[in-house]
Amino acid sequence: MKSILEYETVALLDEEDAVQIIDQTKLPGRTELIKLKTAQQIWDAIYLLQVRGAPAIGVCAAMGIYILTKKVKIENDTPENHDVNFAVLEQEFEKQKVYLDSSRPTAVNLSWALKRMEKVFFDCKGQKEMTMAQVKERLRGEAEEIRREDIDVCRRIGEYGLALVKPGDGILTHCNAGKLAAIRYGTATAPVYLGAERGYDFHVYADETRPLLQGARLTAYELQAAGIDVTLQCDNMSASLMREGRIQAVFVGCDRVAANGDTANKIGTSMVAIAAKRYSVPFYVCAPTATIDMSIPGGDQIVIEQRKPEEVTGMWYAQRMASEGVKVYNPAFDVTDNDLIAGIVTEFGVARAPYTESLREIFRKKEERSGERAYNL
Ligand code: MRU
Repeated sequence: MKSILEYETVALLDEEDAVQIIDQTKLPGRTELIKLKTAQQIWDAIYLLQVRGAPAIGVCAAMGIYILTKKVKIENDTPENHDVNFAVLEQEFEKQKVYLDSSRPTAVNLSWALKRMEKVFFDCKGQKEMTMAQVKERLRGEAEEIRREDIDVCRRIGEYGLALVKPGDGILTHCNAGKLAAIRYGTATAPVYLGAERGYDFHVYADETRPLLQGARLTAYELQAAGIDVTLQCDNMSASLMREGRIQAVFVGCDRVAANGDTANKIGTSMVAIAAKRYSVPFYVCAPTATIDMSIPGGDQIVIEQRKPEEVTGMWYAQRMASEGVKVYNPAFDVTDNDLIAGIVTEFGVARAPYTESLREIFRKKEERSGERAYNL
């Protein structure tokens, strides 16, 4: 049987005008691939967490906006008609961009990827030698580039993360910031995957991650499939593991990092960080620069997604387990204060407190390398 690691989390099926994803709500029981062709299907897949995890959402949205723009029929696609035809594409592009961007509010990768696509799109505007077929081709190229970059970025995060731990360490993670949340390696799992290739024999502890169980259903599943020593435990058990001395480092992913290092990640993350501080376990956030939002000064400005009460009261249970009509609080993310974070592991190195300075330095390195102004500054 094909391993879950052999499937693409998000893939572009250009000939079929579709974005293909693994329906993550069905894992680990069933591996179902779904083809997203309409704006509604893409929006729903992101909102319903069929595709989830900050980097994967970004890639899906980039491929989605390409497919939706590609489907716009253009009559007389010649360079002479550039302006009038571009206006037709522009109308659709902008409408779908706003729509897709509204599917989830916290993971900045979604708007980051759409802004990248928008920049490439508008760079074509007024280039009178370009046909709309060529404009669409540029969009395809950028979407593929965002996907390709994710692999490279996660691998580099893995290298920096791996230098923070040693063979045999116990590593705790919360939610799924693994391959299923990205394209390959994941972010928080990248040091684990690279370590496994080099014989580091880590013991990984995966928090189940209430209420949607991304840790139980996804992290434990993908690490087990990779042959990594993984143990699943309930969210309320991590402090006790730390007290027993079984955890040497925590690696988590993130959905948005503010300029001062405050970090939004899956609900429950801040509890882990507080326990880690108590037991002197270093707590690391693995963050591609695409997830760092320097326009937001601190965690208070991060919009936290609120989700349906049914996810808490009944989802994943054979029968509803909470009383009818009970009030429910169900934020999807929480903010971990920067003083609980030992380091933010990016593809350009590990940022340490004070983060306002070290994150700026990370972006300076990024700009030096690309020669371009970073989008999220
Ligand atoms: O609601 P989800 O499953 O999309 O939440 C995902 C997380 O919180 C991840 O930790 C985060 O997106 C980082 S993924 C590399």
